[in-house]
Amino acid sequence: MLEKIAITAMMILCSSLTAAPSNAQQQTDAHARQWWQNAVFYEIYPRSFADSNNDGIGDLNGITSKLDYLHELGVDAIWITPCFPSPQVDFGYDVSDYEAIDPMYGTMQDFDRLVSEAKKRNIRVILDFVVNHTSDQHKWFLDSRSSKTSKYRDWYIWRDGKNGGPPNNWQSEFGVPAWTFDKKTGQYYYNYFYPQQPDLNWRNPAVKDAMLDVTRFWYKRGVAGFRLDAVDTLFEDPNLTDNPPSPGKDKFGRPNFARIYNTKLPEVHDVLQDLRKIADQYDAVLIGETWTKDIAELKNYYGEHGNELQMPMDLMFGTVNKLSAPEFRRQIAAVDSAGGWPVFVISNHDMVRSYNRYGDGVHNDEIAKLMASLYLTLRGSPIMYYGEELGMQNNDPKRKEDVKDPQGITGWPGEIGRDGERTPMQWSDAKNAGFSNAKPWLLVPPSYKTHNVVAESKDPNSILSVYRQLLAMRHNEPALLNGTYTALNEDDPNVLSYLRKDKNEAILVMLNMSNSPQKIKLNLAPQGFTSPKLTVLLSNFQQPTSAAPADSVDLPPFGALITKMTK
Ligand code: NOJ
Repeated sequence: MLEKIAITAMMILCSSLTAAPSNAQQQTDAHARQWWQNAVFYEIYPRSFADSNNDGIGDLNGITSKLDYLHELGVDAIWITPCFPSPQVDFGYDVSDYEAIDPMYGTMQDFDRLVSEAKKRNIRVILDFVVNHTSDQHKWFLDSRSSKTSKYRDWYIWRDGKNGGPPNNWQSEFGVPAWTFDKKTGQYYYNYFYPQQPDLNWRNPAVKDAMLDVTRFWYKRGVAGFRLDAVDTLFEDPNLTDNPPSPGKDKFGRPNFARIYNTKLPEVHDVLQDLRKIADQYDAVLIGETWTKDIAELKNYYGEHGNELQMPMDLMFGTVNKLSAPEFRRQIAAVDSAGGWPVFVISNHDMVRSYNRYGDGVHNDEIAKLMASLYLTLRGSPIMYYGEELGMQNNDPKRKEDVKDPQGITGWPGEIGRDGERTPMQWSDAKNAGFSNAKPWLLVPPSYKTHNVVAESKDPNSILSVYRQLLAMRHNEPALLNGTYTALNEDDPNVLSYLRKDKNEAILVMLNMSNSPQKIKLNLAPQGFTSPKLTVLLSNFQQPTSAAPADSVDLPPFGALITKMTK
């Protein structure tokens, strides 16, 4: 049981002096908080969340039935990955109608009910907008491929081949050719992902108008924003210049190329500004799937005048793939100074679950709590991934014939695909983890017996209980809502410590990212805390009941300690 112990401590000078809040922080903090800055977001992969009609695939009514759970957890907004009509080649990221619901997931009435029930619980609904490409079964593409003179021909990227092959050397992200030859009209069309996902031609104003209208359609139905899929790839060089080679091979064993002529072209910013103007009319948020190589690139996505994405995801944070205090410290400092509102993600439907990535096989649950204590206490908005709050782990396919994700089918065995991180939510220890009475589309891992909502709700030390406490803390503690971020002990190779400070109080977070006990000393005087009063808010280890040593803090391996300080 976590004990809340009031201790008074004088923390003595040990290491480096701490930095003052950056200009970026001060600028952001000068403005009133927007709803999405105070919100905790929660990603739902609808196929896998809750199956209300027992067909083995989750659905919208399933999500609605779990809104009380999400409300109790402390979630403010759910992002639902694509639930629109789709042939499901890429499990919904191949949309054949942007303004309808796939019957597999329910009806438009079900969707409206979900939005209104969510609203009653102060939960906003965010949809996934697949902007780069449609399905090859979308009526626009069916018409486009029907003839060279189709009204929709120029809605996609059609080109003649070159020297008996494709128009240039661009490669698809998914291990297949990026150009698909269409016999009927004798030209190639461009697909950054699968051939069943032809790229839209955003240089055509009609495409832009139609896509902007899609956002209005959903805003009018009460949607509070969009996660924009694959924004990096919206535009291509109209001259189709070949990409230059770069060292090494990709995960499909193909030679690498620097994708400078088909990703992150400057024109994307015009589109983002247009999308933002509409979003602002509805007090909506735009979240970006932004794969950036550095902070300069990420910064671009906020827009020069803060008029593009409010929340481009810092996916570089999530790709710090080992527990490393210096690496996280560096990445947090970088995003914190980017001038926009940071967005933290440690797992999603394209990424091996954080439980597997950071776990050491011995302290996995403690590490899951440590990681939660990190990304839920930073200055910025966190986006959780369903089941992360339980310590759900990957259940990767063992045989090629079991793979569902085409990326795994193409790349097996080097690239096994993303099925492992998309398994059904673990509600209980009943059959199929209480997700469905039917055999689920993907099988749950054996850990569902212990890591499930029912079991963890009863255990005050469970990962779920820690998440619940952290989310409550985020909503109640002014220093976590509004406070600046200041790194402490910046030379410490093992313990990541920082302060979130607001006026006369602060939250002090200490995270031992090593597998050995650590003793740390902190100098808080430069922060204005000469003899602070400390209250332990949360830890992932048993706290001493007596007062802590006056001049240092002991952390066990992977220990996380969050305290509140008042002057
Ligand atoms: C990014 C999505 O997150 C991923 O799941 C999808 O396969 C690609 N974009 C293509 O839409």
